[in-house]
Amino acid sequence: MLFVTGGAGFIGSNFILDYLAATQDEALLNIDKLTYAGNPYNLSTLENNPRYRFSQTDICDSTIIAELFTRYRPRAIAHFAAESHVDRSIASPDEFVRTNVNGTFNLLEAARRYWSTLEGKEREEFRFLHVSTDEVYGTLGPRDAPFSEITPYAPNSPYSASKAASDHLVRAYHHTYGLPVLTTNCSNNYGPYHFPEKLIPLVISNALDGKPLPIYGDGMQIRDWLYVKDHCSAIREVLARGTPGETYNVGGWNEKANLDVVHTLCDILDELAPKADGSYRDQISFVKDRPGHDRRYAIDARKIERELGWKPAETFESGIRKTVAWYLANPEWVANVRSGNYMNWIEQQYGGSASAQPA
Ligand code: NAD
Ligand code: TYD
Repeated sequence: MLFVTGGAGFIGSNFILDYLAATQDEALLNIDKLTYAGNPYNLSTLENNPRYRFSQTDICDSTIIAELFTRYRPRAIAHFAAESHVDRSIASPDEFVRTNVNGTFNLLEAARRYWSTLEGKEREEFRFLHVSTDEVYGTLGPRDAPFSEITPYAPNSPYSASKAASDHLVRAYHHTYGLPVLTTNCSNNYGPYHFPEKLIPLVISNALDGKPLPIYGDGMQIRDWLYVKDHCSAIREVLARGTPGETYNVGGWNEKANLDVVHTLCDILDELAPKADGSYRDQISFVKDRPGHDRRYAIDARKIERELGWKPAETFESGIRKTVAWYLANPEWVANVRSGNYMNWIEQQYGGSASAQPA
């Protein structure tokens, strides 16, 4: 049995769908609290799959988490559950510390207790895989080398600080107790089931709704983009063959300025879903910058390639086309996740009737 936390979120649900398709026999338990970001509808095709189980549980609940370990005796845990949106962490950081720091600590404690009861092969093969982000390394100048696994941590937002804290706890549980942990630090993901509060899905859905496409500041901030299914395959590799105690940076070698990403999305939409007149680019609106906005992230992914032979299958051009096509084919998914809670956030963040405020 594999435990997956946060499996109803963007990356977790892609991971579960891919994992069940790519492997045989092993069952999987999805442990998810179902916050605004968790959407069980992503996994509705698994309803009758005997290998899939779901537990609506908060990772901070130590009693239930301990019971799940005792009942299901997992051979590994892939820990995705987190609060993940930087802007929300700026507006209200509490939940980020609670879930990302205390929740990870609680899982580590439960895993340590359970692992200490194991013997032989079961003990040797147990793994705790912690899914983290490149944002823990802080920000890069235009000519700085990309983040490697030995880049010092320098998180700048409450989100990245809470993820950095959880990474440190994971590391300490290996060094202190010998718990066989693995950590992945990945760049920005995009693809199907991406909640439309993040740049790429927000721009696609606002474009189709005729709403402004909000660009923070000058739009020249750089992110390294990775198609979500490539992240999922990297996690499968690290889980199967990574060395306990090691961290692996995962990235797509796709550094792009935000404005270029938005231009690309507009151009693909102009081709696949043309407007009656004009271009989607006409909807671009420059808005007030995010406080403490990191200027550039870039990942050096040579270690995972060298040691585990992992490489992304998609280029940015192929992945972004697939992503736009998925959103065009699934308008009901977007309508479904745009709940009252989501609209309240958009109202608070951008003001007015879910539209962007000019800078
Ligand atoms: P997401 O916000 O889409 O999903 C998070 C999931 O965790 C949701 O299903 C939510 O219900 C669940 N969750 C939140 N709090 C919980 C709690 N207390 N108990 C149980 N479940 C809880 O996030 P995502 O984009 O899928 O990111 C998944 C992981 O990958 C996170 O750890 C994130 O830091 C990391 N990551 C994300 C990116 C990215 O670009 N999205 C890049 C690198 C790393
Ligand atoms: P986001 O998708 O929130 O991911 P992260 O902050 O984790 O990198 O943002 C990606 C980039 O896009 C980031 O530089 C902020 C910028 N951005 C905008 O310009 N406008 C927006 O409305 C959003 C949500 C993000």
